[in-house]
Amino acid sequence: MPFAKIKAVAHSVPEQVVTNDDLAKIMDTSDEWIYSRTGIKRRHISIDENTSDLAAQVGQKLLEQTGYEADTLDFIIVATITPDSTMPSTAALVQSKIGANRAFAYDLAAACSGFVFALSTAEKLIAGGYKRGMVIGAEVFSKSIDWTDRTTAVLFGDGAGGVLLEADDSQPLVIAEKLESDGSRGGSLTVNQLELNSPFSDIIEKEKTSLQMDGRAIFDFAVRDVPKNIKATLELADYEVDDIDYFMLHQANSRILDKMAKKLGADREKFLQNMEEYGNTSAATIPILLSEAVESGKVRLDGSQKLVLTGFGGGLTWGSLVIHI
Ligand code: ACO
Repeated sequence: MPFAKIKAVAHSVPEQVVTNDDLAKIMDTSDEWIYSRTGIKRRHISIDENTSDLAAQVGQKLLEQTGYEADTLDFIIVATITPDSTMPSTAALVQSKIGANRAFAYDLAAACSGFVFALSTAEKLIAGGYKRGMVIGAEVFSKSIDWTDRTTAVLFGDGAGGVLLEADDSQPLVIAEKLESDGSRGGSLTVNQLELNSPFSDIIEKEKTSLQMDGRAIFDFAVRDVPKNIKATLELADYEVDDIDYFMLHQANSRILDKMAKKLGADREKFLQNMEEYGNTSAATIPILLSEAVESGKVRLDGSQKLVLTGFGGGLTWGSLVIHI
């Protein structure tokens, strides 16, 4: 059974930076409130690029880094909950934009766990015989935010990141994984609901389509359920916390990361963080973090390091991968 290897990592964010002070000019908030509660200072907000544009930029960078031709790709998975449209999928748009005419392409919707779920899926595709593909997390969340709601508008940003994977016989990429969902708690975080609307239905459900969040419930979910998941995944891998070089968790809030590190008894320095610059970019946070870690030399793609990648968010969904990278 062929193993998968991450050959390249890249990210792309819109140029426009919106600081906390910029937000304070259009809503009743402050840099002090936002930074002390979340660790966020700035976010990048798209002016004229949609989700597929950012994702295609990532795809193009991955091809440039590896020197591979686009038509050598077998598949493209885009993890997103802010697609350009539900049909065609954002992945299909990326396939066309980068000219990957042999690749099959589809979106995967698992909110802020999307990249972790998609990477797990892609690893199985490679084990099943496909040779090369991309997994990209991409969001333009700014189009799904209620910009009059200060309790949610300050948290999110736009961006994309991704990896190019290929079959390789050196060592397994995923050492252990545990992916989880609980739809019964899904109402605590919702976005982009589609109303029933046909001449045959009396039911007209008028739901809010912008992001709605019970912040406290999500905070409690993150600090209660997610550390248990990480512990269980480490046990499956037969690793201790100290065996891990870096923990790359979804970037929602630095206080969540503080609590997770404490619960796991792990060195907080190993929990890499960049929400200060990007805010919460949902499915894109982990690949952007990984891409920056590779750029800075913290993470090498030489097979010598062990990482934990953990996503958590709407669905509810959460899950971890212990990987050799
Ligand atoms: N600026 C100023 N004041 C604000 C703002 C703001 N942007 N937002 C809320 N407030 C006010 C509230 O109105 C409230 O005022 P009141 O006491 O007069 O009613 C006060 O601040 C406290 O509000 P809380 O909601 O209780 O604030 P809390 O300390 O819980 O922090 C936060 C809110 C940061 C959202 C927190 O609940 C949290 O981090 N939750 C996790 C949710 C998260 O990260 N979601 C991201 C998406 S989900 C995901 O990625 C997993």
